[in-house]
Amino acid sequence: MRSSTSRAAALLVVASCGALAPPVRPGAPAGALWARVPGASAAEYAAVYGPRDCASPAGDGMDERIFALNEGLVGATKGAIDALYEGRDFARFYVLETLARVPYFAYLSVMHLRETFGDRRPGDSERMRTHYAEADNELHHLLIMESLGGNSSAVDRTLAQSMAFFYFWYVTVVYSFSEPAAYHLSELIEDHAFNTYDDFIKDHGPKLKGMPVPDIARKYYERDDPYLRDQFLTVKETDGGFTSRSRPPLESLYDVFVNIRDDEKEHWKTLCNLVQFDDLGGDAAGAPEPTRPCVVVGDECFIEGEDECAAEPVLVASR
Ligand SMILES: [Fe+2]
Ligand SMILES: [Fe+2]
Repeated sequence: MRSSTSRAAALLVVASCGALAPPVRPGAPAGALWARVPGASAAEYAAVYGPRDCASPAGDGMDERIFALNEGLVGATKGAIDALYEGRDFARFYVLETLARVPYFAYLSVMHLRETFGDRRPGDSERMRTHYAEADNELHHLLIMESLGGNSSAVDRTLAQSMAFFYFWYVTVVYSFSEPAAYHLSELIEDHAFNTYDDFIKDHGPKLKGMPVPDIARKYYERDDPYLRDQFLTVKETDGGFTSRSRPPLESLYDVFVNIRDDEKEHWKTLCNLVQFDDLGGDAAGAPEPTRPCVVVGDECFIEGEDECAAEPVLVASR
């Protein structure tokens, strides 16, 4: 029986001989690269060919028209806020975190109302607890920004709170008609949030390492019962644990922003799974991937530019 090491070596040889097409899942059409190294597992192929795990079931795509609308909304809003708050990072983060809580409150509001009218589905309680934990996490991001002086201007507070009011009703209406569309909007926002904080940490690392930890951050990340923080960690890492359990201790403001950035990544993962699998934990076989746009034809949605991994058409989410 061939060892894992020798199979990986064989895969590398196959790849280096020019057969660089991505692998396909078992049961794919004849002629697939899959058959070239018998016995190789999906994980071994993925290790050689990249992060995409072809053994995982494909998730739903997002109707390209909704995808473009969500992208346009997020891009325009983020662009406007970035331009308005250039050079005022904590005020910018205060505005963004005021908005960040809103969609989770909107999901909960719609789900709560549905519960009231007897529309109860398996898994709803767990989903509501997770959305509450996400809202609580965003609240603490907001409190940290306020402790840093981000809300010191009445103009900024008025702008952020006005935007939050209208954003709540927008998400509530969208979520009432299409949960995937509403979740996809947040998926894009959380991706932007992760990148925003990642850039900030890279650009201001030395300065942040010389700044103290706000007490509210110490309370939330160190002293509070971790139940709510664990509740929004829905995607298990490959070692069976969660990334957030290995967060760095808080020695400076730098570590606080690393925690916040990583929280945004956790929210993004959960949202990818909700859009693509209508499930908090996704298919549990691989790391979440960004939702891709697809073209609707009848009841099916075909992902554009699909590789062999995504050769099968996937159904449009119908909830
Ligand atoms: Fe946040
Ligand atoms: Fe967020």
